[in-house]
Amino acid sequence: MSTALVTGATAGIGNAFVRRLARDRYDLVLVSRDASRLEELAAELRVAYGVQVEVISADLSADEGCATVEARLADGGRPVDVLVNNAGFGVKRRFVTGDVDDEERMLRVLVRAVLRLTSAAVPGMVERRHGTVVNVSSVAGFVPQGTYSAAKAWVTSFTQGLAGELDGTGVRVVALCPGFTHTEFHERAHLDMRSIPDWLWLEADEVVEDTFTALHRGQVMCVPGLQYKALVGVARHLPIAVLSVAGRRVRASRNRSPKPASAPDTP
Ligand SMILES: NC(=O)c1ccc[n+]([C@@H]2O[C@H](COP(=O)([O-])OP(=O)(O)OC[C@H]3O[C@@H](n4cnc5c(N)ncnc54)[C@H](OP(=O)(O)O)[C@@H]3O)[C@@H](O)[C@H]2O)c1
Repeated sequence: MSTALVTGATAGIGNAFVRRLARDRYDLVLVSRDASRLEELAAELRVAYGVQVEVISADLSADEGCATVEARLADGGRPVDVLVNNAGFGVKRRFVTGDVDDEERMLRVLVRAVLRLTSAAVPGMVERRHGTVVNVSSVAGFVPQGTYSAAKAWVTSFTQGLAGELDGTGVRVVALCPGFTHTEFHERAHLDMRSIPDWLWLEADEVVEDTFTALHRGQVMCVPGLQYKALVGVARHLPIAVLSVAGRRVRASRNRSPKPASAPDTP
């Protein structure tokens, strides 16, 4: 039986990955902070799918929490075949008015943890000539509008670069770039999303299915949903100045909604 480790397993996109992998008979290592939610999910998956499920309660913004997960990934005696770097959140405030400690915590989860966990997992995968890394990025990475976007641009670029380095090793990597997806993400960030039209919303299950299709096709980047494929296709050919204006307009449209005074520039 193969083993998959998913960060941010308890909610949203991570939870959809976990269920899909369990259906495919993967044993699982579930990572997030909320220990009771992890245990509850693990118990449910063991009964529903008959797979082995391990839980690691860890805060990936903390050195110690990240190191615990790194050690599990580097353990050659219990190889991990699939790593899904998914855990993430958005910060509530704009950069100028925000708290730099919150910014750093976000960067540590969105960037540092992705870097360190990938680094812990990939050497063993290369040695075994087999493995998959899914790095959950965002379409926000294509539009310069705040530190969340910058972090996601890093994830996409890092993954694309790594894919070149891993070519021919038997190890696959994919940058998953979803747009707005129904999860707990926006509620956790206290965002009012009422200005976002229905046609822009994705479901976590379809995001995960598209990722498996992309992996099957050997694609390094996955942008789920035709609407986002079209938007990203256009965005990639626009000058940065035009993209910046578009990003500011999206932000302004959301600022017209009744909501807390400041908001992250996400999906
Ligand atoms: N939803 C969207 O519209 C959207 C669009 C594009 C990209 N994304 C990306 O998709 C990924 C998953 O987000 P989601 O939408 O599924 O959000 P979500 O429903 O809020 O789930 C986030 C998951 O991450 C975990 N997590 C958060 N902070 C953590 C930390 N410091 N250490 C360990 N685990 C942590 C949470 O569990 P605990 O709270 O128990 O730790 C939870 O399981 C993120 O990387 C996000 O940036 C989301």
